[in-house]
Parts: sequence; C-alpha cells; structure tokens
Amino acid sequence: MTKTLSVTCRLLLILGVFFAYEFYSDRVSVARAEPDIRLGEQIYRANCAACHGDRGDGKGPEANRLETKPRDFTTGVYKFRSTPSGSLPLDQDIFRTISRGVRGTSMLAQLHLSENERWAVTDYLKTFSQRFKFEKPVDPVPIPARPPTSREIIALGNRMYTNAGCNQCHGVQGKGDGRSATELKDESGNPIAPTNLTIKPFKSGPGPEDLYRTISTGLNGTPMPSYADVLAPEERWALVFHILSIATQQRPRGMMGLVGEEVQGMRIDMRAAMAGMMRGGGMMGRGGGMMDRNMRDMMKDMMGR
Ligand code: HEC
Ligand code: HEC
Repeated sequence: MTKTLSVTCRLLLILGVFFAYEFYSDRVSVARAEPDIRLGEQIYRANCAACHGDRGDGKGPEANRLETKPRDFTTGVYKFRSTPSGSLPLDQDIFRTISRGVRGTSMLAQLHLSENERWAVTDYLKTFSQRFKFEKPVDPVPIPARPPTSREIIALGNRMYTNAGCNQCHGVQGKGDGRSATELKDESGNPIAPTNLTIKPFKSGPGPEDLYRTISTGLNGTPMPSYADVLAPEERWALVFHILSIATQQRPRGMMGLVGEEVQGMRIDMRAAMAGMMRGGGMMGRGGGMMDRNMRDMMKDMMGR
C-alpha cells in the first residue's frame, strides 16, 4: 500500500515537471539572492555536467549520443537571448532557458530545482566564459505590444517571409527544406537544420512574444540571423502571425507528452540523478533521495528497455 502510494507520488512528481513546461511563465520572484557560486557549482555538477561537461565545454559523457549537442558555455555564445545579435544574454535569459528547457531537445526544464538554485546555477554558468567578466550585455531588443490578428497582417507576414528570404532556409512552405537548408552549419561546424515552422512546439517557447524575440535577436552561433535592423516591428509581428498561421501540426508525442530528444534527456537526467545519489547528492542535487532503484527500474519498464 505504502509502496503503491509512493510510486504514485513519484510519478506525479515527474509528470508535474513535464506539465510545468506548458505552464511556466516568465514571472519570477523580484528578490534575487546574491550570487552563490558554490551552490551553483554543486547544482551544475549534479544536474548539468553529464551533458554540458565538468568544464562547461559541452563535452559531457552523454554528449556523443545526442544529436542536438549540449551548449559549450566557454564561448559565452548563447542562442536564446532578449539582447541584440552578438551580445551576451541577460541573466534572465539564461534563467528562462533553464526553467523552460529547449523543447524537442534533451535540455529539459529544470523545475525540480528551486528558483534560488536556478539563479545559483545561472551565475555559475557565467564563470565558464571570461566574456562575462569584461563585457556587459546590451539592452534587450524591445518587444512592442502585439497587434490584433487580422487577415491583412497575416498576408503581410506571408509577403515578408519571401521578401526577407526566410524561404531560402526554412523553405517556401516553411517545412525546413529551403534551398540552403542542407548546407547550414553552426558555429562549431556541426550541420544544423532550419526549423520546420509548420510543427509545434518551438524551441524558444510557446508564445508569440517568443517568436518575435527570436526573429528580432537571431540565434547566436547558428545561421538564424537577427532581423531587428532589417525589418520594422510591424513587419516582425506580421511574420509571427504568418508562422502561427502555418504552425498547425504537432510533433508526435511519446510517453508523458515528450517530443524528440526530450525522451533521451529524461533517461540521462535519471542517470545523473542516480549518480548524484550514490555520491550522496540526493535527487537532482537536493538531498531528497527520491530517485531510487525502483524508480529507475520502473522507468526502464515503462520505456520498454
Ligand atoms: C540531457 C542533457 C542535458 C542536461 C542534463 C542539461 N542540458 Fe542544457 N542543454 C542541452 C542541450 C542538448 C542544449 C542545446 C539545445 C539547443 O541548442 O537547441 C542545452 C542548452 C542549454 C542552454 C541554452 C544556452 C543558449 O544557447 O541559450 C542552457 C542555458 C543550458 N542548457 C543550461 C543547463 C543547465 C544549467 C543544466 C543543469 C541544471 C542543463 N543545461 C542540463 C542538454 C542538457
Ligand atoms: C540562413 C538561414 C536562415 C534564414 C535566412 C532564416 N532562418 Fe530561421 N532558423 C535558421 C536555423 C538554422 C534555425 C534553427 C536554429 C536551431 O535549431 O538552433 C532557425 C530557427 C528559427 C526560429 C526558431 C524556431 C524555434 O524552434 O524556436 C524561427 C522562429 C525562425 N527561424 C524564423 C525565421 C524567419 C521568420 C526568417 C526570415 C525573416 C528566418 N527564420 C530566416 C536558419 C535561417
């Protein structure tokens, strides 16, 4: 009886983490604790190093098996920013990614960590790159209020999509099969595919504002350019509406609603949690010891391996 109960509790806990993806909002406490680098390092080693590597170079023991490679934090180049192309991210940007994860990749939302722990690991990530010592992030690109949707604005977006050359990479219909799609490389020389814009969820977040931000700031380290200097705010909003009008498909969802490499991420996170526990760290670095053998075996069964 107690056992069934505790298994149920654990399942709910895990489900909770994944449902939280959909519900996470940018709202965070106003009060942000002083940087606690030692706590950040502990959190990092227990929860992030398996993929991102002890030295933050993206070469953790699990990295080889992942198609979308974990970020190398030593370069200070961040994809998901509110700041202009080439700039460092704001702390809030890093915090947001850690809290939301990157959908469709093994980078899961880290909501099992408290807000305080997520800030601590945010500060710790910044120690991997000297850039944070010598540069300040530029002011964020403003996101003006979203205009109401209309047939006209969608039509404008449709025209902008071709005029601005989005089709070159993302394809005429947005399916990620543009003319240069197969030649694209990221900063480290790995092939990178332009997003299929007809399928949700998107990496950068579920909201129209997230798409607006991506189009405005670009994704540093990838061929996805910034359009802040090229397109007027109305034109960028029009593109957002165009994308929302074609994003009618959902990526196939596996167990617990996970998509793509998220499943891989869960397997890895579990093992990292196990390793942490055997070294006395407890569940995901929290000392709770929730992830025990039963849990791991149960998950293995559920995943049929
Ligand atoms: C299972 C592997 C895995 C684990 C564990 C993991 N990550 Fe990631 N992380 C990734 C991958 C893969 C990406 C790249 C996603 C992409 O580029 O589309 C990523 C990207 C990121 C980014 C985005 C940086 C940018 O370019 O804007 C941040 C920040 C990040 N991870 C922080 C963390 C932190 C902090 C932890 C631990 C609390 C963690 N990650 C744990 C795999 C992982
Ligand atoms: C030179 C090629 C190229 C051009 C031109 C380009 N993109 Fe991209 N875009 C990419 C690549 C590559 C990615 C994927 C980055 C990744 O997965 O990390 C991307 C990602 C995106 C994303 C992020 C989707 C997500 O999952 O969050 C959006 C939105 C987007 N592009 C919209 C546009 C729009 C709108 C235009 C035109 C105004 C455009 N792109 C032009 C290459 C391009």
